[in-house]
Amino acid sequence: PYVNTKDILEKANKEYYAVAAFNINNLEFLQAIVEGGIEKKSPLIIETSEGAMKYAGMGDPLRGASLFVKMVREFADSLDIPIALHLDHGKNFKYIISAIKAGYSSVMIDASDKPLEENIKATKDIVRIAHAAGVSVEAELGKLAGIEDNVSSEESVLVNPDEAKYFVEQTQVDFLAPAIGTSHGAFKFKGEAKLDYDRLKKVKELTNMPLVLHGASSVVQEMVEIAENYGADFGGSKGVPSDILKETVQLGINKVNTDTDLRMAFIAGLREFLHNNSKEFDPRKYMETAKEYVKKVVSDRLELLGSANKA
Ligand code: G3H
Ligand code: 13P
Ligand code: NA
Ligand code: ZN
Repeated sequence: PYVNTKDILEKANKEYYAVAAFNINNLEFLQAIVEGGIEKKSPLIIETSEGAMKYAGMGDPLRGASLFVKMVREFADSLDIPIALHLDHGKNFKYIISAIKAGYSSVMIDASDKPLEENIKATKDIVRIAHAAGVSVEAELGKLAGIEDNVSSEESVLVNPDEAKYFVEQTQVDFLAPAIGTSHGAFKFKGEAKLDYDRLKKVKELTNMPLVLHGASSVVQEMVEIAENYGADFGGSKGVPSDILKETVQLGINKVNTDTDLRMAFIAGLREFLHNNSKEFDPRKYMETAKEYVKKVVSDRLELLGSANKA
């Protein structure tokens, strides 16, 4: 069934596991994610960025949002596993309202680049509108290093736990993304991977709510190697290692945002297939291996995070 993201995450919070939230831009990634979810009997959170809404709608975000809702609902309505659709990094009022109007299960209002009181004000406004429509809300505190959709920040500013408590009380958000040292994309750490566990632990103690880890891709080495064997150059790429991810789940993370790992798996499969099948030009065929690798990465992640058999 198609469900509210809040329902998926509150169960995860009570039972100490995390659900991966997978970013999509098109049908093929959605199919691969759904296959992984069915195989693992796991709840699923599908998310799209504002850029994905614009891309799918050919410049019209409401049209893009409506297409995503129709695709996701078509699977969700006919399957036993709970599936939610979430707007990732909502920054523009127009996009957030479009997602709510189109029927998303939840939205993120990301005003994390603004000073605290402005973040609170922007978040409160969205919470009021979203909650009236039965849509749950995610917000972010602190800054991730690296490039976010429509935002770039060079240095990361980690979450302040006392501010997190105050922010949550003031805004009534349903889940919170605290910055604890991750970043978006395939190049997360120059040296050893390191996250601020103490900060995460404090935020959990003070808020007791479902928490979200952004920039959580692991940059699966096997996929990097396949892609590089067939012409890619992903030198220097590094993600959040599995054991560190598991540790964050033990400390209270319940939603694990994952985009890069699926992009890497897809490109690995696509490159491999094209290299080995120089006469093929049917897209349904040449995306087969790509989708298979995305499904594998999805399944592995659901297992790792503990959401397998929680549907
Ligand atoms: O947080 C960023 C997500 O990976 C989405 O990125 O703006 O390229 O769709 P995008
Ligand atoms: P990755 O780039 O690590 O996959 O992060 C995705 C993300 O945080 C989307 O909001
Ligand atoms: Na999000
Ligand atoms: Zn993110």
